[in-house]
Amino acid sequence: MNAMHPDVETVLFSEEDIAAMVKRMGEEISRDYAGRDLVLIAVLRGAVVFMGDLMRAIDCPVAIDFMAVSSYGDGAKSSGIVRIIKDLDIDIKGRDVLIVEDILDSGLTLKYLMKNLASRKPASLEVATFLWKDVEGKQAAVNPKYVGTHCPDAFVVGYGLDYAERYRNLPYVGVLKPEVYS
Ligand code: IMP
Ligand code: MG
Repeated sequence: MNAMHPDVETVLFSEEDIAAMVKRMGEEISRDYAGRDLVLIAVLRGAVVFMGDLMRAIDCPVAIDFMAVSSYGDGAKSSGIVRIIKDLDIDIKGRDVLIVEDILDSGLTLKYLMKNLASRKPASLEVATFLWKDVEGKQAAVNPKYVGTHCPDAFVVGYGLDYAERYRNLPYVGVLKPEVYS
């Protein structure tokens, strides 16, 4: 058990919980993509921790690449603006692309990204998200094929997820104390 960071109110998913989820996702992906030409694309920066673990849980050959988009700025609310800051280095035409995301909330960021990637004519295009805030009454713009776990509609940090660029290095996922925002 990790010592809890003083700014964290509750731990939602422990290091052990996360390891089990990633292992299960890796097995599903390995089975589904056996014999295919899999390219994992992670969205910087939040997805790097999950990407690092997920790729090692997959036992078929994979290529990896990264994109950076801006959507949230430093705050906790979506700006609704998506801009490509870093594009792919590799060609995805005819390949099986799996987008690796840290958290799916409104899905607006991913929807934009998927439209953009689809125009490059991959053989397939799917999403693996570590967390899904699929709260009742809230419809995500994108349907992920692989999900680590469902997440309550709170602002969470750790395992790559930040608040104002902090807490990404926490090995667990937790909810921040409200006073941290003010
Ligand atoms: P969406 O476009 O609303 O799905 O937002 C997706 C992006 O917002 C994620 O890739 C995260 O960078 C960020 N985000 C959404 N919810 C949280 C959260 O609870 N903690 C940290 N980042 C979040
Ligand atoms: Mg982010």
